[in-house]
Amino acid sequence: MKTGYEIFQNKKILITGDTGFKGSWLAYWLHHLGAEVYGLALPPDRDYDHYAALGLEKLIQHKDGDVRDFSQIHDFMEKIQPEFVFHLAAQPLVRKSYNEPKLTFDTNVGGSVNILEAVRRTPSVKVLITITSDKCYKNKEWCWGYRENDELGGKDPYSASKAAAELVYSAYQDSFFNDRPQFGSASVRAGNVIGGGDWSTDRIVPDCIRALEKNKPIELRNPHATRPWQHVLEPLSGYLLLASCLYENPKQFGGSYNFGPENREMHTVHDVANELISVWGNGEIKITKRDSDPQEAGLLHLNCDKAHHDLGWYPRWGFKKTIEQTANWYKSVKEGKSAESITRQQIIEYMES
Ligand SMILES: NC(=O)c1ccc[n+]([C@@H]2O[C@H](COP(=O)([O-])OP(=O)(O)OC[C@H]3O[C@@H](n4cnc5c(N)ncnc54)[C@H](O)[C@@H]3O)[C@@H](O)[C@H]2O)c1
Repeated sequence: MKTGYEIFQNKKILITGDTGFKGSWLAYWLHHLGAEVYGLALPPDRDYDHYAALGLEKLIQHKDGDVRDFSQIHDFMEKIQPEFVFHLAAQPLVRKSYNEPKLTFDTNVGGSVNILEAVRRTPSVKVLITITSDKCYKNKEWCWGYRENDELGGKDPYSASKAAAELVYSAYQDSFFNDRPQFGSASVRAGNVIGGGDWSTDRIVPDCIRALEKNKPIELRNPHATRPWQHVLEPLSGYLLLASCLYENPKQFGGSYNFGPENREMHTVHDVANELISVWGNGEIKITKRDSDPQEAGLLHLNCDKAHHDLGWYPRWGFKKTIEQTANWYKSVKEGKSAESITRQQIIEYMES
């Protein structure tokens, strides 16, 4: 696989959602590669979030801001004149989207419109990567992997908001960006991402770690749900590779790209919890299902032939390695090691693998 990492050195890069789980890994990785990183997002939810644990506020130039406010975004973009924009800011939780559908649509759809519009008005931007989700596909619960040209849709507000964000992206691409010289953009769709430093509610790994740390059983609502689990560095490596390809050949790449694990690496929620327990050293699982729990989609996986073919991108860490790296991150921090050194070490190990 080509890497293209050197392209980012000294480049001005704006990441929305840099205070979040994926955004903080991306911001740190780009900082490590020598980029001048800017971030725009709401402040981190907790003082021990990955962003804070890394000390990112001292390494990058972050601005507290709301993607629902167009003028904030446009003013910031105009001020910093970035060459690359990675748009990750979102309300990313399915269950929260049932409780707060308007917030979810305003952030994920309205916020995406604001980012695309700000990019349209900022000629310095040469590459835009819009992060949506594997949940943008209309889930037909079939055994085949979804391809980039499959039908979009979503029953729950989160999935529908990501499908809508895809339509917004595609309208901006067709109406404004196709003819913009020296500009390339893409939307990217990844599955369930895991790794150290995620403390969100209602996500399998943080839920498991919280239980393990308190010596309580891990409660699973949907143990048999199968997801395309992958380490956070896997899709991020795809976004970086795609961004570097777009920078060099803006019109040769583009559209949408899936980034997911190999088919044989599809595993259930139960497998994730089991494997985490085995690396952690102890723990137990309790199955709980309440009738009031919102419906969660079952089988869903991605076909990544386009990323393989166009970019030469392949996942590098299998399921066991992914869980091992994830559990070790939390264990090391619990034992008092610095989050920054573990994150850096895992990024270097990933780049060398
Ligand atoms: N984590 C996953 O498994 C996964 C899977 C598929 C897609 N994604 C997508 O990746 C992206 C990042 O997800 P994550 O897991 O890091 O989520 P996260 O909740 O950890 O981070 C979300 C980020 O968005 C920011 N944000 C939320 N509302 C905002 C607003 N109104 N204005 C400005 N910033 C706002 C938050 O401050 C935070 O920085 C999202 O677009 C998500 O939909 C995540």
